[in-house]
Amino acid sequence: VLNWTPSWTSLWARHLSMHTIPKEKLPRHIACIMDGNGRWAHSRGLPRRAGHRAGADTVERCVDFCISHGIPWLTLYAFSSENWNRPKTEVQALMLLLHDFLKKRLREMKNKGVRLLAIGDTSRLPKRTRELLERSIEQTAGNTKINLVLALSYGSRAEIAGAARKIAEKISAGELHPDAITEETFGQYLDTAGMPDPDLLIRTSGEMRISNFLLWQISYAELYLTDTLWPDFSERDMEMAVKDYARRTRRFGGI
Ligand code: FPP
Repeated sequence: VLNWTPSWTSLWARHLSMHTIPKEKLPRHIACIMDGNGRWAHSRGLPRRAGHRAGADTVERCVDFCISHGIPWLTLYAFSSENWNRPKTEVQALMLLLHDFLKKRLREMKNKGVRLLAIGDTSRLPKRTRELLERSIEQTAGNTKINLVLALSYGSRAEIAGAARKIAEKISAGELHPDAITEETFGQYLDTAGMPDPDLLIRTSGEMRISNFLLWQISYAELYLTDTLWPDFSERDMEMAVKDYARRTRRFGGI
């Protein structure tokens, strides 16, 4: 008797307690730095690509978690502009994984109501993957359950510099007045134009860095750092992160 009770009653209790969090206490946008795939693989004597592949399953878990709790935005740091400097074999494995992910999970994403979006310099992706990405974005554009934003070949400084360049071009063409540049208008020139800022930023694997991720957008995000490696990041870990967030008082610089 004692053996069966903990598993499903505790599952039920966890489910209950997530649903007792008032909706306004839940993050509207979660962003994740998915770190630790390499270490996860290394500790099992597996190649790094096996860690990335296991990490793709965590992506799926995260999407499902957000859908079931009504969290409408999820942004994932899938490939940074610096990741191009990794060994060619690893870059190729990551590109292949992205391709497989889009190909295999597109129908599922459509069924689940996922609207796919991308930020970053996607022109650097291999042509067939870029085309598949564009098709996936188009075909999911009408979905409303969750907005899944993949940061691909993304670097925040490049994004900010790009926004400054676009603004400068408009000013020199006489289409924009310098006085019109506010925090809001500047934000419209970033890749994330129209998206809400992340409320909660999660980084796995014990690292305490931002690594050029959404520097502008995370100004007031709550940070959640965990030692858990990304492939091991479970539904329970997501719950802990969200519950931790729900307990915090956000002041946005006020008192
Ligand atoms: C960092 O871990 C992770 C990456 C560079 C890639 C993240 C990509 C995925 C999780 C793949 C799945 C995503 C999609 C959307 C297909 P690391 O390799 O730097 O880990 P380490 O610090 O332990 O070496």
